[in-house]
Amino acid sequence: MSENLIVNSNASKEEKYADLLPQIEAVIDGEPDIIANMANVASMIQETFQFWWTGFYRVIGDELVLGPFQGPIACMHIAYGRGVCGTAWKKSETIIVPDVEQFPGHIACSSQSRSEIVVPVFSRDDNKRVVAVLDIDSEHLSTFDETDRIYLEEICGLI
Ligand code: SME
Repeated sequence: MSENLIVNSNASKEEKYADLLPQIEAVIDGEPDIIANMANVASMIQETFQFWWTGFYRVIGDELVLGPFQGPIACMHIAYGRGVCGTAWKKSETIIVPDVEQFPGHIACSSQSRSEIVVPVFSRDDNKRVVAVLDIDSEHLSTFDETDRIYLEEICGLI
């Protein structure tokens, strides 16, 4: 495993993701522990993009519980179907929120967060059960688009 993440700060968002993906694959390769992998993935996404908050919530029973993350402290428990995270879990699909104030039921862990993307992590066995979500918050409006969705879904598929 390489010690340092390589980030070309002048590259486009798509190029950054394209550079990041094989580095995440290399770090995760052979590591079966999901928490260890979530921790390194949150770190690598954060080092690449410097978002406001990048982290995981794990499905534990009937709620989401805060997992490995990078950024300020955050809510620790989110109910099924609540907020952007709980809705992405319920719908089993990625949700992009260009303006959190327009999302009914958005849970404001931080008043700095303006836009958000939440991507489900599916179980390896049947690939249908949501075992966690990746949540990324930005302090700017409309930060996330289809490029983020495509690459972040691919990254979550590796975990
Ligand atoms: N905004 C999220 C809660 C998690 S924090 O943003 C880290 C939500 O509405 O589910």
